[in-house]
Amino acid sequence: MPILVTGATGTVGAYVIRRLLAAGHPVRALTRNPPAARLPAGVEVVAGDFTNPASLVPALRGVERVHLVAMEGDGPAIVDTLAEAGVRRLTHLGHDDPSRSDDDPLESWHRVLRRAIESSDLEWTHLFPGEFMANTREWAPSIRAEGVVRAPFGNWRSTLVHEDDIAAVVVEALLTDGHAGRTYQPTGPQPVLRRDAVRMIGEAIGRELRFDELTPDQARELWGEVHEPEVVEWFLEMGRHPDGNSWVSPDVEEVLGRPGLTFDRWARDHVADFT
Ligand SMILES: NC(=O)c1ccc[n+]([C@@H]2O[C@H](COP(=O)([O-])OP(=O)(O)OC[C@H]3O[C@@H](n4cnc5c(N)ncnc54)[C@H](OP(=O)(O)O)[C@@H]3O)[C@@H](O)[C@H]2O)c1
Repeated sequence: MPILVTGATGTVGAYVIRRLLAAGHPVRALTRNPPAARLPAGVEVVAGDFTNPASLVPALRGVERVHLVAMEGDGPAIVDTLAEAGVRRLTHLGHDDPSRSDDDPLESWHRVLRRAIESSDLEWTHLFPGEFMANTREWAPSIRAEGVVRAPFGNWRSTLVHEDDIAAVVVEALLTDGHAGRTYQPTGPQPVLRRDAVRMIGEAIGRELRFDELTPDQARELWGEVHEPEVVEWFLEMGRHPDGNSWVSPDVEEVLGRPGLTFDRWARDHVADFT
């Protein structure tokens, strides 16, 4: 019986697939665009789009376990579609910021999906990770071209998490019992300063990198080219927090029996992204 991985072409999904295949499980991958999906041999690729829950039905045929990545869409209709198709176990990768209100545009659809999952009869496990190490790939173009990273808040600390640790927790929750009704918040093993992350990428690729610290106004201009204004303001608000985002969750170690992977390990895993 295949396990359906949604977000299969994304950052975490790629690692979930790799781990399921290594564990010998048949994998079906959901994507909106099968011809463009470059997935490992042996993966069954099926079309489907969360914005049209009925389109998920073919991908759900004969499936009891699903990894669901939260993307904007009609959360309750998606959950109903899964349950009606016979899905029993669900890992849900999303986001939760309890400090923000239900009607916050960045939060509301996540909350609606979360509540629909919790009201269902599915054996669900939420994963609300910390900031992904992979977000630093946005520095890749300027690193490749100029050996420079331009970003604000050089001393901002964040317990960046390796996407493979998130995937490992997902796979554990999909394949073993004891995770139903649990909420895991995978983080890395220690907070990392932005400027140290730049240094570690430089060490991994064997090139000295310069960190040019931007003012918040300069960052607003740079990020405004790629992100919605409310997302930019959210990033800036986080960056102003004096302690950064330095909470270390026990969840990776509790579920996997080992500490989370470090940022220098991530940088060594991702040399090709920066060269
Ligand atoms: N980045 C962070 O620091 C961070 C931190 C905490 C939580 N999160 C959460 O992590 C999740 C993102 O995970 P990720 O970074 O692994 O994903 P990602 O790399 O952003 O990729 C998005 C994936 O979602 C799929 N997708 C997008 N819209 C879809 C739709 N309408 N129907 C079906 N599939 C759709 C895409 O598939 P196709 O394009 O192939 O269709 C792609 O595989 C989000 O829920 C986010 O809130 C992120």
